[in-house]
Amino acid sequence: MLDVTKIRKDFPMLNGKMMQGKPLIYFDNAATTFKPQTVIDAVTKYYTEQTANVHRGDYDLSYQISEGYESAREAVARFINAQPREIVFTSGASAALNLVAYGWGQKFLKPGDVVLSTEAEHASNILPWFKATEVTGAIFEYIPLAEDGELTLDNFKAAMHSKVKVVTLANITNVLGYVAPIKEMAKIAHEYGAIIVVDGAQGVPHIATDVEDWDCDFLAFSAHKLCGPTGVGALYGKYELLQQMDPFMLGGGSNARFDICGNILLKNPPYKFEAGTPAIEAVLGFKAAIDYISAIGMENITAYEHHLRDYLMSQIRDMDHITIYNPQAATGIITFNVKDIFAQDAASYINSQGIAVRAGNHCAKILMDMLETSETIRASLYFYNTKEEIDHFVQVIREITLEKCVDLFF
Ligand SMILES: Cc1ncc(COP(=O)(O)O)c(C=O)c1O
Repeated sequence: MLDVTKIRKDFPMLNGKMMQGKPLIYFDNAATTFKPQTVIDAVTKYYTEQTANVHRGDYDLSYQISEGYESAREAVARFINAQPREIVFTSGASAALNLVAYGWGQKFLKPGDVVLSTEAEHASNILPWFKATEVTGAIFEYIPLAEDGELTLDNFKAAMHSKVKVVTLANITNVLGYVAPIKEMAKIAHEYGAIIVVDGAQGVPHIATDVEDWDCDFLAFSAHKLCGPTGVGALYGKYELLQQMDPFMLGGGSNARFDICGNILLKNPPYKFEAGTPAIEAVLGFKAAIDYISAIGMENITAYEHHLRDYLMSQIRDMDHITIYNPQAATGIITFNVKDIFAQDAASYINSQGIAVRAGNHCAKILMDMLETSETIRASLYFYNTKEEIDHFVQVIREITLEKCVDLFF
């Protein structure tokens, strides 16, 4: 079990921060996570001791920072069991997913081809594919979800056919928190000659990720959801696929040569996808985050989150005024509503008690239709949350009433 008391000391946001005059309880970790001091130090160190551009200068500072930047790529690769040359730094999961949909999808999809996904996807993994199908004349299809919103292997098998060229989905969805069987799905997708793109924004920070074992073709994720800085993320891609696809942006750092006639020779991946000065400090912070998480151990993080989730669920499951939308999910995302109270009003009341949760459609607008609600409340846990925080949350949920929510506005 984790030493959470010790872990919490590493996070400035968890030491004395108040909200609404009460000690802050942060249950919005699916939106973004807090940063340990080592990540903050790595970012600050770049500005105070290491400032130079990467891959451009013929002087010590630039050599050193270029080395640091590439060692971050190695750390990201190790973290998901990939090769460094298969890691493209992007501004986040959204940019990584757009890069695949543009650079692979818009280049290789043909009229009548099918992109297969689910109704539970985040906008960042669905809108780029809507565009790719619109531009290429391909078709977008959905794998039917089970009644509780879970993706089953049987439903996936039934939805697969020979026209499917891309399967794209989150390995953990951001509203319901179900874990998709990626390894089994990748095998089936490949039997049909399709590629599989994994949106790992919610998965990589919470469960061990092994792209080689899963045999997925692409994986996208953001640093800020795993204790790293905002403005940076990664796209993993199988090297031959990265070689085939086009960059989304062109510019300095991504080309080997160009001439007056407009001929461009791009560098090899991953550099051909990294035009312009990157978020160097964020990449260094990304590495610090991975080092931090790796030192705790992903297995420990996953197990602790399960433990917290079970603890929370066991207390709210039988409350008559609470509707839980994902009682069976095995991750730290709990999505619910309080009967007869609009989700955002309930979240405002929860906020008044010092607790941060998210309410809304969570960028998964299609899923809300399926759940037959316009909004839900989402509490999302991480390894620095505690049972005491859950006790307070449960108490607030137990005592919430419409009158208390209305009182907030008068
Ligand atoms: C499942 C999922 N995919 C993609 C994203 C987009 O991530 P980012 O905003 O870091 O680009 C999110 C963000 O919440 C997400 O939850």
